[in-house]
Amino acid sequence: MIVGILGLGHVGLPTALGFAENGWSVIGADRDSAKVAQVARGEAPFFEAGVQETLQRHLNSGLLQVTDSIPSAVESCDVLFVCVGTPQGDDGAADLSQLEGVAITIARNLNGYKLIVEKSTTPVRTAERLKRTISRYANGNHEFDVAVNPEFLQEGTALHNFLNPDRVVLGVETERARDLLLELYRPLVARSELAGDNPEDRLIVTDLNTAELIKHASNAFLATKISFINMVGDICEAARADVKEVARGLGMDPRIGPRFLGAGAGFGGYCLPKDLRAFVRIGELNGVDMSLLRAVENVNDERINKLMHKVHEALWVVQGKTIAIWGLSFKPDTDDIREAPSLKVVTRLLDEGAYLRLHDPLALAEFQKEFPEQVGRLEYYDSPYEAAAGADAIVLLTEWRDYLTVDLSQVRDTMEVPLLIDGRNLLDPAAVRSLGFEYHSMGRR
Ligand code: UGA
Repeated sequence: MIVGILGLGHVGLPTALGFAENGWSVIGADRDSAKVAQVARGEAPFFEAGVQETLQRHLNSGLLQVTDSIPSAVESCDVLFVCVGTPQGDDGAADLSQLEGVAITIARNLNGYKLIVEKSTTPVRTAERLKRTISRYANGNHEFDVAVNPEFLQEGTALHNFLNPDRVVLGVETERARDLLLELYRPLVARSELAGDNPEDRLIVTDLNTAELIKHASNAFLATKISFINMVGDICEAARADVKEVARGLGMDPRIGPRFLGAGAGFGGYCLPKDLRAFVRIGELNGVDMSLLRAVENVNDERINKLMHKVHEALWVVQGKTIAIWGLSFKPDTDDIREAPSLKVVTRLLDEGAYLRLHDPLALAEFQKEFPEQVGRLEYYDSPYEAAAGADAIVLLTEWRDYLTVDLSQVRDTMEVPLLIDGRNLLDPAAVRSLGFEYHSMGRR
């Protein structure tokens, strides 16, 4: 069986490598020829742990081939995973035009039975439309099935997540589709059997719409957890309590769990904000009261105002102040800045006339594409020490582990004013204050 991966982005490339790791022959296709050429040279187009090495290994092993011709991938493969983007459209709903385009290309190049698997995150009932579109454009020429196998990869650990899934969700309509997908995932299921797990605990075989909803509901729930703890953080701040301790106590209840209870600047990235909006939209289109998730979104949007309020309280006048920003990516271990809080914070601080000195361990190049360097006004530094030198304040926006090992006494000595606003509650308040810093965080005493 040859596995085709259509779309070599943050989902497609790790998925292609994951299947190759499991011994399958994989053809990765993307219409972006420059990206395909880069991948073919063994260079990952974005930072993702393990991807670069695994890519080189499987180009060498021959298990992975790449092409910029989607039609040729369709012709050569038995199973096609559709991993193209589903960006946000103007009205908050997902823009499914890339998906439709791929569906038409698949239809026009069918040359025998194919299983077409939707991996991109999509509103419920998209797979039904995918099937209808392929049927229309294929003119009934060939047999095919459509299935849904949502991805639960987290940026930064995507390959690890693929190889160690907490769940595999298969939405299918036919036995043939189910059997093919079970065969493809057998190495992963076998691995969890070896680990002593009951594979049934990690595998869900269901219908197309349910599979789509599992993915959307998962991301909406994660977003809800984050907005919930941010709301609790605001109460903590008013009551002089500590949100980190409240979260710890909450998370000890196994029904709640400790993860995704980190209060701070709110959730960003390509998935949670966009998927939440799309879920609200599809719910409302279907007459469902989605006010709970609208509130989740509102709480998140307010995070930047809260953070900016802290900056104003701490600095009083922002105009003319020099501010170091530590952390630009939407979360650690990635160079991705899509919907990162840093985009809004930097825009607002620049508008207010601040001089900015930016640092991030990985995302400087990406950020410079959006905000080109302006000497004296907006400068980029490879080291957090250099970024902080001469600053009136540091605003920490991403919880990179690197900032935990910075020698803050050295930083303090080069700053104009030792003031630190920790938008991720990364640092220990008592330790930072004991070094002579004025320290502000989100929802802690
Ligand atoms: C998210 C989901 O976690 C994945 O399960 C899903 O597969 C993926 O979207 C997707 O749909 O493709 P990802 O976007 O990589 O993954 O990022 P997360 O780790 O979920 O973090 C999202 C945002 O929430 C980040 O800005 C992070 O800083 C923030 N966050 C996370 C918090 O503010 N607090 C927390 O406690 C956790």
